[in-house]
Amino acid sequence: MKQSFIFLSCLLLCACSNVDKNFDKAVESTLSGGKKIAFTFELGNCLACHVIAEGDAPGNIGPELKSLPLRFKDKTQLHQFIWDATQFNPNTSMPPFGKNKILNDDEIKQLVDYLWELK
Ligand code: HEC
Repeated sequence: MKQSFIFLSCLLLCACSNVDKNFDKAVESTLSGGKKIAFTFELGNCLACHVIAEGDAPGNIGPELKSLPLRFKDKTQLHQFIWDATQFNPNTSMPPFGKNKILNDDEIKQLVDYLWELK
């Protein structure tokens, strides 16, 4: 009796964690453009290291991504940073997304347009 209770509890847990994953996928599929690239695990996955407004369960290895016009002189400079952050800080843990072909030029452009507007 006790064993079957444990077994059933495990089943339920597995089922719920799958629901959770499917829910994440459902949320991702409602996003578009730069926000989708930033929030999606298989694309930019910027949330792994950065707090971004409305982003779920972010990491805190890098700073929160907001008010970037105060940090970068224009969108071109922000594009260069995401393309290859090691140009700005050789010891950074941020992957060189463009240089290493994780994201292409157009995807980084969409990211820049989205991030530039975050207050
Ligand atoms: C493995 C962790 C990691 C990932 C993933 C990551 N970053 Fe970063 N990022 C950092 C760190 C650490 C910094 C701090 C600056 C430094 O190290 O030079 C940073 C800094 C930045 C900055 C400068 C912010 C500021 O206020 O100075 C921007 C913009 C940025 N990241 C954008 C992105 C974007 C866009 C993505 C996703 C495509 C991303 N990062 C993914 C670690 C990461």
